[in-house]
Amino acid sequence: MKLRNVWLPATLLALAASPIHAEEGKALYEASCAQCHGSDGRADTAIGRAMGVPSFSEVDLGPDPNARIARVLRESPKHASVASKVNAQEIAAITSYIQEEMIETGESEAR
Ligand code: HEC
Repeated sequence: MKLRNVWLPATLLALAASPIHAEEGKALYEASCAQCHGSDGRADTAIGRAMGVPSFSEVDLGPDPNARIARVLRESPKHASVASKVNAQEIAAITSYIQEEMIETGESEAR
């Protein structure tokens, strides 16, 4: 009887399809957002300063940060170059990464 072998692939598929992964959010953030917003979200980068990018610790993302960020990427002309690179699921991963690492604590330096 090798019933187990039938279930393993299904389980792996389910894991791969799970929507939000902090690791994925970090990788996506680094690839798409960090050059302007900085790895720590403070926008303390050459481009960030030149463009006047706000620190995430000073941005109020409102009651639905995911929808807010999706709208910013879609509507802000500053984000035209990245908007097409991330789909809804990737935006969700990036949002949770920003929320966990850059907004809630606001003291990443202390850690
Ligand atoms: C080319 C530089 C650049 C890149 C890349 C970039 N941003 Fe921005 N971002 C800006 C600038 C400039 C502003 C301030 C002006 C504005 O809001 O359009 C901003 C503002 C924001 C704000 C605050 C807007 C508000 O008022 O609520 C959010 C949220 C944001 N960016 C998210 C992201 C995310 C998420 C990514 C990566 C997917 C990203 N940005 C990539 C330049 C960039």
